[in-house]
Amino acid sequence: MTSALIKQLSAAIVSLKPYETWGRQMIVVTGATGTVGSEVVSGLRARGERVRALVRDGSAVPAHWDAEVEAVAADFTNPASLDRALADADAVYVLVAVHPEMDTHERNVIDAAVRTGRRPHVVLHAAAGVGEHGEGIRFLAAHTAGLGYLGASGLPWTVLAPNGFYQNFLGMAAALRTGRLALPGGTGAVSYVDTRDVAEAAVAVLTGEGHENAIYTLTGPAALTHAEIAGVLGEAVGHPVAYEALEPEAALAGMLAAGWAPWRAEGMVELYGLYAAGGASAVTNDVEKLTGRPARSLATFVTEHAAAFRAETDH
Ligand SMILES: NC(=O)c1ccc[n+]([C@@H]2O[C@H](COP(=O)([O-])OP(=O)(O)OC[C@H]3O[C@@H](n4cnc5c(N)ncnc54)[C@H](OP(=O)(O)O)[C@@H]3O)[C@@H](O)[C@H]2O)c1
Repeated sequence: MTSALIKQLSAAIVSLKPYETWGRQMIVVTGATGTVGSEVVSGLRARGERVRALVRDGSAVPAHWDAEVEAVAADFTNPASLDRALADADAVYVLVAVHPEMDTHERNVIDAAVRTGRRPHVVLHAAAGVGEHGEGIRFLAAHTAGLGYLGASGLPWTVLAPNGFYQNFLGMAAALRTGRLALPGGTGAVSYVDTRDVAEAAVAVLTGEGHENAIYTLTGPAALTHAEIAGVLGEAVGHPVAYEALEPEAALAGMLAAGWAPWRAEGMVELYGLYAAGGASAVTNDVEKLTGRPARSLATFVTEHAAAFRAETDH
């Protein structure tokens, strides 16, 4: 055997995938260390899927992941790192953080998916109202731009559009303990959803068939006004919580005084404007359609998280 042939054979052997990965698709999850993404990763692993989790340099890897999760360092602002992270991807979960450049971040991941040349199934994590209420609501406008870009990419796609998360209320626990839920949500009802249902729906779409070109709006089982939500949260905190409907200007001033970045604070006020107008009150059964069981109720969520709501440290 010539040495050139030996070299070729050795290279071919080195590039062979381990036996146990044969025939199994590679699913790449972005936003993987966050609230939803970390649950998508563990949910996929619970089903025995091959998972590559995109992790920023220096960010902590969630403790509940098993050793089989392939963590790869990449950043939404670095296309070369995205190329490395998405190489050999069969499916990609695109979840970007709320950020002034979030539309560019979504585009960068979609571009990297196109560059793989493998036409991976791209599942875009957007927000309820994507494509409908984008005007004047920056977070939705960014996701709407991402949806348009993805549709034009030629890749097979699905969009998950969750409503506001129950988990957001954990970050308000200190205020809730003072008996106050102060938000610029007016009297509109909102069909908030549990991020665990969002993650389970994502796992179903990433591993299932027949979801191409679908937009799933993920909501809880009911639309509740913030006054009703305050009542449910009060049960968890252990004493009554009253809802105070803030004027948008007062809410913005409060967030800025608390150190919020202006872009984000203004975006939150825009979003609550939609909530106040009843624009986030639709209830769907898309969670049940995808996961096979009804969406968790707010009451279930607060009962399960009662200790966190009562604890002195916030999440
Ligand atoms: N909150 C809501 O009520 C709600 C409702 C509907 C839809 N959404 C949408 O859900 C998304 C947020 O989901 P989430 O709450 O699960 O997110 P999250 O907890 O804020 O996590 C964001 C993830 O993105 C990663 N990330 C941030 N910047 C990055 C960068 N430059 N390069 C690579 N990774 C980066 C973070 O990594 P690190 O760990 O390194 O920071 C983290 O893994 C947004 O698109 C939002 O519009 C939110």
